[in-house]
Amino acid sequence: MDAINGSESFEEIPYADIKSFFDSAPSLGDAAETKIKEELENFIRRNSSPSENGTARRVVCVTSGGTTVPLEQRCVRYIDNFSSGHRGAASTEYFLKAGYAVVFLYRKGTCQPYCSSLPDDPLLECFEVSSESNITVHQTHAEKVKGAISDHRAAIARGSLLKLPFTTIFEYLQILQFIALSMRSLGPNAMFYLAAAVSDFYVPWESMALHKIQSASGPLDIRLAQVPKMLPVLRKDWAPMAFCISFKLETDTKILLEKADMALKKYNMHMVVANELKTRKEEVIVVTKNGNITIRRDMTHAGADVEEPLVKLIVDRHSAYISSQS
Ligand code: PMT
Repeated sequence: MDAINGSESFEEIPYADIKSFFDSAPSLGDAAETKIKEELENFIRRNSSPSENGTARRVVCVTSGGTTVPLEQRCVRYIDNFSSGHRGAASTEYFLKAGYAVVFLYRKGTCQPYCSSLPDDPLLECFEVSSESNITVHQTHAEKVKGAISDHRAAIARGSLLKLPFTTIFEYLQILQFIALSMRSLGPNAMFYLAAAVSDFYVPWESMALHKIQSASGPLDIRLAQVPKMLPVLRKDWAPMAFCISFKLETDTKILLEKADMALKKYNMHMVVANELKTRKEEVIVVTKNGNITIRRDMTHAGADVEEPLVKLIVDRHSAYISSQS
């Protein structure tokens, strides 16, 4: 087996835990599920045909933002996972630029592709009422707003960008499974770039309080179950030929590389991107079977980010992977 392809040895996959997670997860609803599956089917069909230069198109699923864990079925309170969604949104732009079609699975309300240079509240800060019936873009933001709108519209019009939102861990994992099963037919041209911050613990739906938990009952004791790791089942069963990159976030640098290396081997990933919370915008370390590669933001260029060189490296490695499979 090629080194880049990883060894085919999988840790024992906890199928019973995975089944019980999905069986007990609240349904997305028939209409929502049908809509997502149809959108995916159309998107994959459109992007399965060879591109203008005759090569097969590549499709990447970029996950972005953090998942929530509801504490009540009629949810008032929840536990959240940290992620602004910047990494996923910026990476999506670079993948699109590199010719990929992107399924962007993102947490509602987090950063969106092409919007990073806009102010926090674009509607209120970029526009002004110029006459009674006219709204115009404020001169200082005009170029950025035009660029964001036209790049985004072009990606949607080309059929290269499909955006699917999630909020809870239940929604995230159910939609990720639909995406993976629909991308399976793309073989090695499919890629997963799993930058979302995914909850490790959750309250199983059947043991969750129905109504808002009452504070009059005194201090709250909650027992959280472990979310089964989906990476091995994604690799082995859902989309076995896809190129898979997972992310590892730690706050303790001493354990970061060790944990990333463990994820590479245990979940049979092709690459693991290790990052530390404080320095994640400056530097990441890409852990592979052939060694580690440090990627740094170019400090000499204002506006340079770490995602551009990171995506470039990953696209190169994906090309090598595709060649090794043909
Ligand atoms: O969004 P930004 O603010 O720009 O920050 C980017 C980031 C720091 C969130 C991103 O770079 C990052 O590191 N994302 C992954 C964070 C994370 O959730 O790490 P983890 O150790 O919890 O999970 C590691 C991997 O296991 C993830 O790829 C996840 O998809 C996967 N996982 C996690 C839990 C679970 N039950 N099943 C999984 O498959």
